Amino acid sequence: MKSGGRAGFEEWLEHLAALAPALRVQYWEDADPAAVDYALVWDPEPGRLAAMPGLRCIFGAGAGVDLITRDPDFPRHIPLVRMTPPGAAQRMGDYVCWAALHLLRQGRRMALSQARAVWEDFSCASAPDIRVGIMGLGVMGARAAAMLQGLGFPVHGWSRSEKRLPGVTDFVGEAALDDFLRVSDLVVCLLPDTLATQGILGTALFARLPRGALLINAGRGRQQILPDILAALDEGQLGGAVLDVFDPEPLAADDPAWGHPLLTITPHVASLPPRRERAAWVAGCIAGIEAGHWPEKVYNPGLGY
Ligand code: GLV
Repeated sequence: MKSGGRAGFEEWLEHLAALAPALRVQYWEDADPAAVDYALVWDPEPGRLAAMPGLRCIFGAGAGVDLITRDPDFPRHIPLVRMTPPGAAQRMGDYVCWAALHLLRQGRRMALSQARAVWEDFSCASAPDIRVGIMGLGVMGARAAAMLQGLGFPVHGWSRSEKRLPGVTDFVGEAALDDFLRVSDLVVCLLPDTLATQGILGTALFARLPRGALLINAGRGRQQILPDILAALDEGQLGGAVLDVFDPEPLAADDPAWGHPLLTITPHVASLPPRRERAAWVAGCIAGIEAGHWPEKVYNPGLGY
């Protein structure tokens, strides 16, 4: 197990010992590679998973497994299960709803005014006025879509294969991207990190959005070109943004993005279920696998997520 370093390991161990006392749980660096059946990892040293000959399954400690699959020796023949406990999608939905309302009600502007003790009143749009386009309608995107609809936002999506979600028009594939962007006053990126999505959130894409569009990225940092976002905010093509992910992380303390008045930064916390919840989910998956039932969210090397 490697996720959260040794301090994190103690917490995993405590939960797994309580939930599945029959499992023998060891820290990544202490384990005999030849004796490992299951690995739980977030950002493993390259080559180490490949050196575990008896490995039956790898669990990612997060929903995104890009830090695992970037290992050139990543053993593609071993199932890699993405961390998708039931609470993860709800948490992402919570975050996206918060960020959407924060942008709608100009929370950053109010926080800056408050910091200067300035009473600045203004009116703003209402949820039904803002057409939200979600890029990526997987389990997280689907939950966020339903929750945003509950708040009154009209919601549509963009996905690789067609998803039929109640009340959500789905724009499918590269050919539909222009049409999707044209009607998106707020873009929410929940895409997985793949070769096809890296750098997608840049000037060329912003130019296809309505002027003053809003952006939320809770996908991956490599999907955004941060200087392009700052430039689009400066020149008005984007009206505001909330970013949870960066490349690299943490964002450097001297990065100009921190101080931008139209940008809200959160430290990769959009959907981070507590370790107990994740440990319970892993223990349940292992029990299922031992009984011959594989979890659903297995990484597909062909798709890259
Ligand atoms: C967090 O970003 C995750 O992949 O779960």
